[in-house]
Amino acid sequence: MIYPRIIAHRCGGALAPENTLAGLRIAARIGCRGVEFDAMLGADGVPVLIHDETLERTTSGLGGVAAADSGQLLRLDAGCRHHRAFGGEPLPSLDQALRLCAALGLWANVEIKPATGHEAETGRAVARASAAIGGKLVLSSFSEVALQAAAVEAPLLPRAMLVEAVPTDWPGLLERSGSRALHCAANSLAEDVAHAVCKAGYPLACYTVNGRDEGARLFALGVSAVFSDRPDLWQAEEM
Ligand code: G3P
Ligand code: MG
Repeated sequence: MIYPRIIAHRCGGALAPENTLAGLRIAARIGCRGVEFDAMLGADGVPVLIHDETLERTTSGLGGVAAADSGQLLRLDAGCRHHRAFGGEPLPSLDQALRLCAALGLWANVEIKPATGHEAETGRAVARASAAIGGKLVLSSFSEVALQAAAVEAPLLPRAMLVEAVPTDWPGLLERSGSRALHCAANSLAEDVAHAVCKAGYPLACYTVNGRDEGARLFALGVSAVFSDRPDLWQAEEM
């Protein structure tokens, strides 16, 4: 699997409201080749882009994501909390985001972000929607259950295991989740672990890297890609 080196985190990083189509457009405009975003299910089982299980931090809505139908969710303003300049920017569906990625030529890391207790159904629904639209993409999740459900639903879509610190038994974790890559937190990645993962031939991608020096340190360890809120710190030819 070939990863773009700089992946705009939550669509456009800090340059736009997170998990929005505006973010994807900005990422493409600054020269990103890859983006990451979070997909969660509404009450009717439709995957939408949002990070938190509740709506308050990033949208004009109130309450739990899993308690609202996609019809309600897609009418929410997901831009106003970031800045009034983005007021009216809608909360998008996963379908809309993947179609825009395809139109803009963006590689996408769809992070399966289940609300608690919805791991398997979120894995299935996100995999189904992603396989239906296609494009250059990889599914990832902190949830082994979600990844296993995604594997059953869409076995051909590549998957990556997402962790904070890399556990000692990372090979077993990759095997159980059928993952072809490992995504981990940059700040807890030890040099010997990075070398071992890379030597075993797995792409390693680290979040969240908001400085060029930190990125350079990780690339020197063999890391394939970094997720960044500040993709604008790199030139288009470095991405
Ligand atoms: O997928 C990498 C990164 O997005 C994981 O953390 O909390 O930003 O979704 P989070
Ligand atoms: Mg994420």
